Amino acid sequence: MSVEQALTIADLKEQARRRVPKMFFEYADSGAWTEGTYRANEEDFHKVKLRQRVLVDMTNRSLASEMIGEKVSMPVAIAPTGFTGMQHADGEMLAAQAAEEFGVPFTLSTMSICSIEDVRSVTSKPFWFQLYVMQDRDFVLNLIDRAKAAGCSALVLTLDLQILGQRHKDLRNGLSAPPRFTPKHLWQMATRPFWCLDMLGTKRRTFGNIVGHAKGVGDLASLSSWTSEQFDPQLSWKDIEWIRERWGGKLILKGILDEEDARMSLGSGADAIIVSNHGGRQLDGAASSISMLPRIVDAVGDQMEVHLDGGIRSGQDVLKALCYGAKGTYIGRPFLYGLGAGGKAGVRRTLEIIRKELDITMALCGERDVKNLSRNNLLKDV
Ligand code: GLV
Repeated sequence: MSVEQALTIADLKEQARRRVPKMFFEYADSGAWTEGTYRANEEDFHKVKLRQRVLVDMTNRSLASEMIGEKVSMPVAIAPTGFTGMQHADGEMLAAQAAEEFGVPFTLSTMSICSIEDVRSVTSKPFWFQLYVMQDRDFVLNLIDRAKAAGCSALVLTLDLQILGQRHKDLRNGLSAPPRFTPKHLWQMATRPFWCLDMLGTKRRTFGNIVGHAKGVGDLASLSSWTSEQFDPQLSWKDIEWIRERWGGKLILKGILDEEDARMSLGSGADAIIVSNHGGRQLDGAASSISMLPRIVDAVGDQMEVHLDGGIRSGQDVLKALCYGAKGTYIGRPFLYGLGAGGKAGVRRTLEIIRKELDITMALCGERDVKNLSRNNLLKDV
């Protein structure tokens, strides 16, 4: 089956499962501890019911919108994800190109395999950069400066991963980048020959933003040792000030899941917040993103743009988030599955699937412009 034959994100997920070595496929397909929040993110979308409307003009539909003042062909950005260049060789560069061609924002993770400069070298429009704050402030300041020098148009500051949530699959798989050459890991790779061939053709196999830039990094291969040694567990609201000052551009706060935190973010000078529980990968037992969205939108009113990530597997999910008041959404796993299944063409397919589902759903709800979606398109009392 080719990526063009995939009709759903679930189809791409199964293709990726067959192409990507287990440790990397499962890195994407995992949540913290019981994975309850990971599952709830998806399941709670199904509980939201749409209002079917008939006999309305369905011509000239538009999905175009804006996120933080940037024009987007649909309000769906590529989320920052770690190890992306391990789903497919040069993964971040390919996904950024697919996003650029599609007219949606691409967000590069600090924990990417391809570096900021690598992605800059293959794109012509500004992308967004996601920042993790390490104790080594010089390194962080330098990362911010590198993102600025690359012309990134937004800084996405992640707030919910100063300590890493435990994902059992990663520990059991012995996840690392580059992969180790134990019999188990060799077997996982040997059974994925196309992935290996692509990987042999690139030199990017470890964390490109960090190696050669951060001083005294011990065992970088393991995400858990890297975060526990390097990430700053004392990060506070006050730190947002110096980060914002150094950056000087659009700032998005990622990882808000509580109304009180949402209200506190109003004084931070940020341009948007992302309602997120890190795809269920951090605090297992936290509520799903979509269930928290309406009250967070109500808490901040029209004082700040609200975005959502977590659990989106279809254009219908995007529509539901927009109806609840999100100005934009992000897809993480859906694009990783597309990437693993078929590189750049796979990411393009992910975006096409989401666009088509969003467009048809919007029409059948009796709307022609994505900017007009509101809670009025949803059934109450479900
Ligand atoms: C990193 O951002 C992760 O969730 O693994």
